[in-house]
Amino acid sequence: MQDPKYVKEAFSKIADRYVITNHVLSLGTDILWRKKVGRIVKEWNPTELLDIATGTGDLALEFQKVMPDCKVTGSDFCPEMLAYATSRGVQETLVADALNLPFEDESYSVVTVAFGLRNMADYPKAIQEMRRVLKPGGKLLILDFSLPTNILRQPYTIYLDKVLPRLAGFITRQPSAYHYLSDSIKAFPAGEKMQELLTSQGMKDPQAIELSFGVASIYTAEK
Ligand SMILES: C[S@@+](CC[C@H](N)C(=O)[O-])C[C@H]1O[C@@H](n2cnc3c(N)ncnc32)[C@H](O)[C@@H]1O
Repeated sequence: MQDPKYVKEAFSKIADRYVITNHVLSLGTDILWRKKVGRIVKEWNPTELLDIATGTGDLALEFQKVMPDCKVTGSDFCPEMLAYATSRGVQETLVADALNLPFEDESYSVVTVAFGLRNMADYPKAIQEMRRVLKPGGKLLILDFSLPTNILRQPYTIYLDKVLPRLAGFITRQPSAYHYLSDSIKAFPAGEKMQELLTSQGMKDPQAIELSFGVASIYTAEK
C-alpha cells in the first residue's frame, strides 16, 4: 500500500513522458493488453463506465473507440496526468481521489482501473469505493502487473530490479519513480490473492486472466 503524496508527486513529474515510457518498457504490449480489456468490456455492453486512476487516458480512449455509445468518465487525483487525458480526447474527466469518489452510489454499470490500484494507499477501501458506485450486477475490471509464476519469474525479477529503473530513469529522468514501480509490483496481490481480496470486499465471481506469461493480469468481478 502506497503513500498518496509520493504517488501524486511522482506521476506529476513523469506525466509528459508517461505514455511513451509505457510503450518502450512493455515493447508496445500494453497497447495489446488495453485492446483485450476493451474487447472484454464491450461484451458487457455498458451504458456508462467509470475508469478510475485513468492517468493520461489510454484505457478510456480505447473504450470510447470500441463503445461509441457508452458514456465514459475518467477520474484521477493527479491533475497533471488528467490534463493529458483531456487533451487526448477523453470526453469527461474529473480530478478525484479513488478512495473517496465524488459519485452517487450505484451510478455506473462498469468500473475499471488499469495500473492504478497498485498505487493506492488502501486496496480494500479502493475496491469498496468501486463497488459502492457500481450498479447492482455491475462489473469491475482491474488490469495490473503481476509476477510470473513460471520459469520467467527470476529473469523478470532481475529485469524489474536492474534494467527497468535504469531504462525508464533515462527516458523520464526520474529513476526513483521506477524503483518504486518494481517494488510496488512485487508487493501487489496477484492471482488467487487478488480474487480473495475481491471476494472479501463483497464482489462476486472473481476471475483472473494472465497476460503475456503472467507479467500482467486482468481481474473481473461482479457486484
Ligand atoms: C500507472 S498510472 C495508470 C494510468 C492509466 N490508468 C493507464 O493505464 O495508463 C497510475 C495512475 O493512478 C493514479 N492514482 C494513484 N492513486 C490514486 C488515487 N488514490 N486516486 C486517484 N488516482 C490515483 C495516478 O495519479 C496515476 O495517474
